[in-house]
Amino acid sequence: MRRINKILKNDIFKNIIRNIEKAEKTRIYCGHGIEHLFDTARICYILDLEGKRIFDKEIIYAASMLHDIGRYEEYKNNIPHNEAGAKIACEILAECDFSETEINIIKEAILYHRKDKNENSLGNLLYKGDKLSRKCFCCNAEKECYWNNEIKNIEIKY
Ligand SMILES: [Fe+2]
Ligand SMILES: [Fe+2]
Repeated sequence: MRRINKILKNDIFKNIIRNIEKAEKTRIYCGHGIEHLFDTARICYILDLEGKRIFDKEIIYAASMLHDIGRYEEYKNNIPHNEAGAKIACEILAECDFSETEINIIKEAILYHRKDKNENSLGNLLYKGDKLSRKCFCCNAEKECYWNNEIKNIEIKY
């Protein structure tokens, strides 16, 4: 997990997470701060272990840690966060010793984490872990949330 610890200490990463957490202080819906990133990473890792064990642990964690890194750009400049995030992630990953091939796999997963893409892709794993991480069962905004009842986690699986 050497490179994941490098991401956690990376200045670009730390600044953006701080900004996202500040921007979401009064948000009633799910947040996108460090807690959400860890929840997503750990669930994605469990899903992979329970499934086909396709991805390296560091790749799963890196994609999860960075999947919402574009949120601040979305709040500030209205750029879809998957698009903004894919770009920023490349910069951080390069600073944290990920190879070009690994960066491309993670970038693609971040770009598609909002859609349920083809089974067996990292984007699909991220999509599932991201959704499963939400604590709808104890959310005060559950009634107002746009998620349909089928995806809301009224009962937890992980
Ligand atoms: Fe997202
Ligand atoms: Fe997310």
